[in-house]
Amino acid sequence: MIANMSKQDLRFWLAQVEESRDVTHIRGADRDEEIGGVLDLSMRKMGNPALMFDEVPGFAKGQRVLANILTSTQRINQALGIKATGSEMELIQWWRSYMRNAPTHKPRTVNGGPVLENVEEGAKVDILKFPTPKWHEHDGGYFIGTACLVIMKDPDTGWVNYGAYRVQVHEPRVATVMMSPGKHGRLIMRKFHERGEPCPVAVVAGVHPAIFMLAGLEVAYGKSEYDAAGGIFGEPVEVIAMPKTGLPVPSYSEIAFEGYIHPNDEVLEGPLGEWTGYYAGGQRPEPAIRIETLMYRNDPIIVGAIPAVPPNDNTFYLGTYRCGAIWNQLEAAGVPEIKGVWTHEAGGSRMWTTVAIKQLYGGHSKQAGLIASQCHAGAYANRWTVVVDDDIDPTSINDVIWAMCTRFDPREGMEIIRGCWSTHLDPMCYDGDTDRRNARVVIDACRPFNRRDTFPIVARSSKALDDRIKAKWSHVLPKS
Ligand SMILES: Cc1cc2nc3c(=O)[nH]c(=O)nc-3n(C[C@H](O)[C@H](O)[C@H](O)COP(=O)(O)O)c2cc1C
Repeated sequence: MIANMSKQDLRFWLAQVEESRDVTHIRGADRDEEIGGVLDLSMRKMGNPALMFDEVPGFAKGQRVLANILTSTQRINQALGIKATGSEMELIQWWRSYMRNAPTHKPRTVNGGPVLENVEEGAKVDILKFPTPKWHEHDGGYFIGTACLVIMKDPDTGWVNYGAYRVQVHEPRVATVMMSPGKHGRLIMRKFHERGEPCPVAVVAGVHPAIFMLAGLEVAYGKSEYDAAGGIFGEPVEVIAMPKTGLPVPSYSEIAFEGYIHPNDEVLEGPLGEWTGYYAGGQRPEPAIRIETLMYRNDPIIVGAIPAVPPNDNTFYLGTYRCGAIWNQLEAAGVPEIKGVWTHEAGGSRMWTTVAIKQLYGGHSKQAGLIASQCHAGAYANRWTVVVDDDIDPTSINDVIWAMCTRFDPREGMEIIRGCWSTHLDPMCYDGDTDRRNARVVIDACRPFNRRDTFPIVARSSKALDDRIKAKWSHVLPKS
């Protein structure tokens, strides 16, 4: 069956994941507590199977909810179409090369597609018909859009942008979208509103994870995520034009709707348990989407990438991408001999960055740390940036802490940087409502450069001795 499916179809990826026996099917969990409760327990460790919920009480059989999607390196590899068993370091290198080469294909508009299997317009629209979960106990409502695309078109240039901005459903024809300051969707919306015009918008809930992944990445202003997604597939993304707004949505979307955001039209939104691990931000007015058209496939699948106490589905997949991006940006800034970058998942793949370098000169490690904590990919909501020597594995938090305990001199090795780029979702930003900046630390945990020849040597067998022992004594050694 899989051979006849389009590789742009969420259900193609799902079939691959099924083949790897990497999805758990759950029937009868309610949408107010149980879907979120099962998910919360499953996300406490990365690598657990994806979750497919069906037969949600009060909703038709076949209306499904898929969650815990990108919480395993294997499922991320499968989404990107690369070797499923590849390691996290290989994935970092894949992102580095993808970003350097920036392959693109413009989307191709087609006349049909599975999303057209059901179409509702005007008063017939009912966005509440789907089993949209309340994802966390204290959420302020039901969020259909997490692993979503929010699509808009720049009125001046025709640039089509999509981003992952959370979307809450309120009434049959009303949803809200929460776009933080500076996000491209918010900038485009403002252009319409400054002219006194409503902003056309389309939302997709349920799409192939490679298309969604780009929605959550910082694709440059003016560049279309559709082109970049085509670069991952190696072919144009197939889109249909929505009937009222003309906005393009993938023809394999599970659920898509379109409408308008009118100037000063806001509805109370949130809170949602967020990626920093808190219900930060509270409830506040956010732009309302007045829905004109709703489309969905038969037996549609709502897909969630849910934030929670990290690690979580919202931020885990961003980790390897971010490592690759910071690595490339350090090199572009002229910092030599970067040997590894790791953004720890406990910090939501943002708040903790480790950089490993081979020190070449005095000040090299300080330079690497300061730039990693401020370059575009590393700056937003960071709290800790730690630089280690290249004999330390940056992915091993144990080794990193060992370096911090034994090679770090607090008199010289610590910089506190004030007034940096953050978000109201960071519970320690200065004042979430008015001043979304934070303070952060850069730690130099490398051996002091001027003591590099006299620093005590490490009390661990050399590689040569390791190899000799392994060859002769493998039968008594613990399995690694
Ligand atoms: C699952 C997920 C949910 C997200 N939710 C939001 C959100 O509600 N609001 C927001 O401003 N950014 C959110 N983000 C971050 C943006 O998607 C990300 O910054 C992206 O680069 C925005 O697209 P843009 O660069 O085109 O504005 C989310 C990211 C992910 C992966």
